Amino acid sequence: MQKKYLMTPGPTPVPAEVLLAQAQPMIHHRAPGYSEVFVSVLDGLKHIFQTKNDVLVFSSSGTGAMESAVINLFSPGDKVLVVNIGNFGTRFVQICETYGLNVTNLAYEWGERAKASDVAKALEEDKEIKGVFATHSETSTGVVNDIEAIGNVVKEMGAAFIVDTVSGLGALEFKTDEWHVDVAVSGSQKALMSPPGLGFVAISKKAWDMVEKSTLPKFYFSYKKSLAALQKTTPQNPFTPPVTLMKGLNEALKMIKEEGLENIIERHRILGKAARAGVKALGLDFFGACDETSNAVTAVKAPEGIDGKKIVNVMREEFGITIAGGQSKVAGKIFRLGHLGYYDKFDILVTLSGLEMTLKELGYSFEPGAGVSAAEKVFMENPF
Ligand SMILES: Cc1ncc(COP(=O)(O)O)c(C=O)c1O
Repeated sequence: MQKKYLMTPGPTPVPAEVLLAQAQPMIHHRAPGYSEVFVSVLDGLKHIFQTKNDVLVFSSSGTGAMESAVINLFSPGDKVLVVNIGNFGTRFVQICETYGLNVTNLAYEWGERAKASDVAKALEEDKEIKGVFATHSETSTGVVNDIEAIGNVVKEMGAAFIVDTVSGLGALEFKTDEWHVDVAVSGSQKALMSPPGLGFVAISKKAWDMVEKSTLPKFYFSYKKSLAALQKTTPQNPFTPPVTLMKGLNEALKMIKEEGLENIIERHRILGKAARAGVKALGLDFFGACDETSNAVTAVKAPEGIDGKKIVNVMREEFGITIAGGQSKVAGKIFRLGHLGYYDKFDILVTLSGLEMTLKELGYSFEPGAGVSAAEKVFMENPF
């Protein structure tokens, strides 16, 4: 037999408590029993988003929630700015272009972090820009943007601020209200320890005002339809929700509340620190600005002469450890270790040990045990 380890930046491992909650008998989505679960999920999400704004839940992956922000706030031809530092910034560009928005693509080299001053300059240069899109934790590169700094700039210039925190929420601090985020977007399958299939948005008053003026077509993802169903005496979704996933997420959110948001973010900080210490001790380089803020994912350059895809394949096939390769233009050049969600110290140690054995097999030379030992040191010095 081979025991499997899922060490990707989404989907992530799902705790037994969540799986068991999903195994309960089906309930009807218009009955009060479902409303209780739904309201509890919304409360839990508001807590993690650190917001008093309305939160809506869609039966979709994170991309659906990203698309919902575009179609509910804007009208054809509207000018928007996308702060693009990788694959998921590019996705915002693609969605906006699909719906006929006039996009300024503030594109950085993959691996770079966006600068708030560049955003300020772009907004100064075109005062008609109505919305700014940014990625919090860019999963394709491991780089985390300073959403607080960008949010201050966007607020000053009066545009709406839409942030993808699909791999940030629950792994990194994310202060929706304090950072002036008008639509915060996330999903179930990352730090929220649930299966894929649910997308979330937290919508500010300013965003609701834009919803009133938006003329892009929408039906299933209409914010107004969702809000109307939410405001019924027994709060519900406009269409049949994935009841099973909602029950699981409700359990995950209870676990999050029990551990405490601050403790969870600190745990992720140390998991990231240990992963990076291990990688560094093996003489490997990080990809771009993957650094002490990279709580969710560690992006590593494949060593000279070794195909990153091979590292991913050997780890999965021979050692049962699934990590992620590089996406799009960095495919084969980097590999990524996910550490967001239901992870503890030994998950990192297992991954580093598997990485060492894999690298050995592929002919890379390093001091055996150095990676594991460096990570252990971080854990011993930073108890959680
Ligand atoms: C930062 C980020 N944004 C958006 C997405 C897209 O989410 P999904 O794959 O759930 O549609 C992902 C998923 O990997 C992501 O990491």
